[in-house]
Amino acid sequence: MTYLLALDQGTSSSRSIIFNERGELIATAQQEFRQIFPQPGWVEHDAMEIWQGQFSTCQQVLSKAGLKATDIAALGITNQRETTVLWDRKTGQPLYHAIVWQDRRTETYCDELRQQGYAGRIQAKTGLILDPYFSATKLKWLLDNIPEARRRAQAGELAFGTIDSWLAWQLSEGSLHVTDVSNASRTMLYNIHDNKWDEELLSWFDIPRALLPEVLPSSHQFGHSKLLGAAIPIAGIAGDQQAALFGQACFTPGMAKNTYGTGCFMLMHTGDQCPSSHNGLISTAACQTDSRAQYAVEGSVFIGGAVVQWLRDGLKAIQHSTDVEQLAASVPDSGGVVFVPSFTGLGAPYWVPAAKGAILGLSRGSTVAHIARAALESIAFQSTALLQAMVRDAVFPIKELRVDGGAAANNMLLQFQADLLGIPVIRPKVTETTALGAAYLAGLGVGVYKNMEECAAQWQMDRQFTPAMSRDEANNLMKNWEVAIGKVR
Ligand code: G3P
Repeated sequence: MTYLLALDQGTSSSRSIIFNERGELIATAQQEFRQIFPQPGWVEHDAMEIWQGQFSTCQQVLSKAGLKATDIAALGITNQRETTVLWDRKTGQPLYHAIVWQDRRTETYCDELRQQGYAGRIQAKTGLILDPYFSATKLKWLLDNIPEARRRAQAGELAFGTIDSWLAWQLSEGSLHVTDVSNASRTMLYNIHDNKWDEELLSWFDIPRALLPEVLPSSHQFGHSKLLGAAIPIAGIAGDQQAALFGQACFTPGMAKNTYGTGCFMLMHTGDQCPSSHNGLISTAACQTDSRAQYAVEGSVFIGGAVVQWLRDGLKAIQHSTDVEQLAASVPDSGGVVFVPSFTGLGAPYWVPAAKGAILGLSRGSTVAHIARAALESIAFQSTALLQAMVRDAVFPIKELRVDGGAAANNMLLQFQADLLGIPVIRPKVTETTALGAAYLAGLGVGVYKNMEECAAQWQMDRQFTPAMSRDEANNLMKNWEVAIGKVR
C-alpha cells in the first residue's frame, strides 16, 4: 500500500493526516496553537509555534499509523491562506508574528487606496476586492513598522511567504522558498491572468521583488524534506480552500463546494476561464497540476463555524462545540432572533470591513436556545448569500453543492442550508477534503495517480440533503436576513 501525508495548517489548529492511495484516512494528529489579539481587530500567530506544532503532528501521525518516513510516497501542504510571514533568510527566524487573514489593522490604508482609485485596477489584475483580508497590505505594514525591514528586504536578506512557503522553507531546512499559484493568487501581488508576480502591484504596495517566493503549479516536485528520517518528496502545495475544491473532485466548470470551517468558503470551479464577478465575489486561481491556468469564483465569509466557538467561549452557552446542535434543536425555530456574526467585518458579498456583529429580534421569550439556533442559521444565511451572488453572476449553472469542514457534521445546519438554497447539499464520506486535496496533489506529483480522473473516481457520497422548504418561505427568510445585514453595515 502507498501512503500520502497531508499537512493541513489551519487558522485554529495544525493537523497532519495520512491517507492511503485509495483516499482512505489512516491516521490524524492535531495540535492547537495560540491566537494572539494584541489590539481590537488585530489577529496574530507565532509562526515558529505553528511550525513546531505542525512538525510535531507529523511525527505523531506517523507513530499513530505505525509507519516510517520511508513508507510515505510524498507529502502535500495545505494552509490557511493570506496569513503573512516575514523571516530572516539566514537565521530562519520570523521578524514579527504572522499577521492573520482575519486581521483588520490595514483598514485605513485600504480606504486611502480606495479613495485614490486603485480598487478597480487592483481587482482587474488580481481578481480580488481591495480589503485588509489579503496579504499585500499586511506585508507593507510589516515593512513600514519593523525597523530596518524595508532596507533589509531590498538587500535580499528577508523572505516573505504565506504559511505554505513558511512550512516548505522549514521542512526543507531553508533550501526551498516556494509557493503555488493558489496561494500566490491571495497575496494581491499576483496577476492571475499573466500567472506571475506583477511589477505594477509591487510598486503600488511598495514591496521589494527580492522578498517573494517562486510560484509553481500546485502539484509539482518542489523538493524534499529529510526531517522525518528519510527524504520525502514535497509534491503538493495549495491554499486550503482550493485544496478542498480539489479534494471534493470539483474539477469541471460549475462544480461547487462550501467548507464550513472557522469561516465559510464557497468556491465554484470555472475551468480555464477567469471569471469576473459583478456581485461581490472574487476570482482566484484554482489548483494547477501543470502550467495551464485554472480558475474559481469564490465567496469568503469570515465567521462561519467560529460563531459556535463564540457561543462556547464568549457567551458560555455551551460546554463543547458539538453541544450546539442539541441546544438549537430544542426550539422549533429561532423565534425571530437573527444573529449577524460579523465580528471581524463582513466579507463577501457585502465587504464592510468595519461592520460589527449583532443579535437582533430579541423578545422577552428569547432564550439562549433561540440564540444558538440563530447562530447556526447565520452560517447557512451567509452561505446562501454567496450562492445567490454566484447565480446572479451566472458564470455556470450550479446544480448541487458539495460540503465539508467541521460544521458539515451538523445535520440540522445542512438541512437548513439545502432548504434556503433550493438545491441538494451533498456531504462526502471523507469530509477531510482539504487534507485529501493536498494528498491528491502530492500523489499526482509523484505519479501515485496517473491523472485527476483517478482521484475523482474515489469520491463517495455520505448523505444528500434535499430541499424541503417552500421557495416562498426560503425567500422570506433571506429577505429578513438582508434586513439584518442592512443594520450592521
Ligand atoms: O482565506 C482564509 C482561509 O484559508 C482560512 O481557512 O480553514 O483556516 O478557516 P480555515
